[in-house]
Amino acid sequence: MNDELEVLIGNATTAFAAAGTPSDLENAKAQFLGKSGRITELMKGMASLSVDEKKSRGAAINKAKQAIEAALNGRRQALADEELAKQLKQEALDVTLPGRERGNGGLHPVSLTLERIEGIFGSMGFDVAEGPEIESDWFNFTALNTPADHPARSMHDTFYVEGGSAEAPNLLRTHTSPMQIRHAVQHVKRYKSVIEAGESMPEIRVIAPGRTYRVDSDATHSPMFHQCEGLWIGENISFKDLKFVFTDFCRTFFESDDLVLRFRPSYFPFTEPSAEIDIQFQAGPLAGKWLEVAGSGQVHPNVVRNMGLDPERYIGFAFGMGPDRLTMLRYGVNDLRLFFDGDVRFLSQFN
Ligand code: DAH
Repeated sequence: MNDELEVLIGNATTAFAAAGTPSDLENAKAQFLGKSGRITELMKGMASLSVDEKKSRGAAINKAKQAIEAALNGRRQALADEELAKQLKQEALDVTLPGRERGNGGLHPVSLTLERIEGIFGSMGFDVAEGPEIESDWFNFTALNTPADHPARSMHDTFYVEGGSAEAPNLLRTHTSPMQIRHAVQHVKRYKSVIEAGESMPEIRVIAPGRTYRVDSDATHSPMFHQCEGLWIGENISFKDLKFVFTDFCRTFFESDDLVLRFRPSYFPFTEPSAEIDIQFQAGPLAGKWLEVAGSGQVHPNVVRNMGLDPERYIGFAFGMGPDRLTMLRYGVNDLRLFFDGDVRFLSQFN
């Protein structure tokens, strides 16, 4: 092969190497192997040669052509390999990376408390009742022996809502106590024939947890808060039973057998006598302090009457406690608003 053909092969190889993409490579190919490419030109140039010369020249050009084709194929393969390598790199999966898990949800601390309360009272034979958050004046106040001039009825304390009448407006319940009446009325209805026959009605033993509302907002008050009502009505249920039940509940709830309770005389329209219940831890950061956790008392005869029962025969106790406050005491939270801000950093600590 003469120098001219060697140079041509060299040029072709260089041109192919310079082609960065398959289409560049096809263009470069055309220059050498195309219809009017260099090889074709050389073939045409053989016309004037003798038969012998044609033979040797033709063989040399063919060899050069094969060499150029080999260079072309080599470059094609290299470009294809590069492309594949690039693609593999782009699509690479690092199987050693930690997985992207969906965070596990969990219960709100107050919900955990409510579950705990329901579990403990459930084990003592209490039912769990739920009722409406929009309440009527009758259930929230009047039926609970709360006179029309009671301060809790003030516009400053209570969220009134549309509906109802001027004398009996609807409102967001200010406590769970209306559930005492609602539940007892249902119970009395269910056992109507037993009661009318003068036989003993099964006791009413119920708790009613839920949301309650008052116009109040600071570190220890929120316009929406939780309460849990308790009611036990029978023929011989006394203050002694209240003390026993509530003491047992608090000791179980706080997992503290030496927790001390104090029943401090107080006033509620729907109980007589009434007591505020304070607890005292004997150990831990709150040891020695009296902490108020509930209102309670013997259900007032007028309330028993509004339940549809004879107060001469039926008697019992009620209490109302604040699950938000119980949660704060149990976990050592000092600002009630944290429960309702919805900050996951705070809330996730309880799960
Ligand atoms: N309803 C009262 C309040 O919100 C709490 C309460 C006190 C409930 C005495 C009771 C009770 O059942 O007997 O302040």
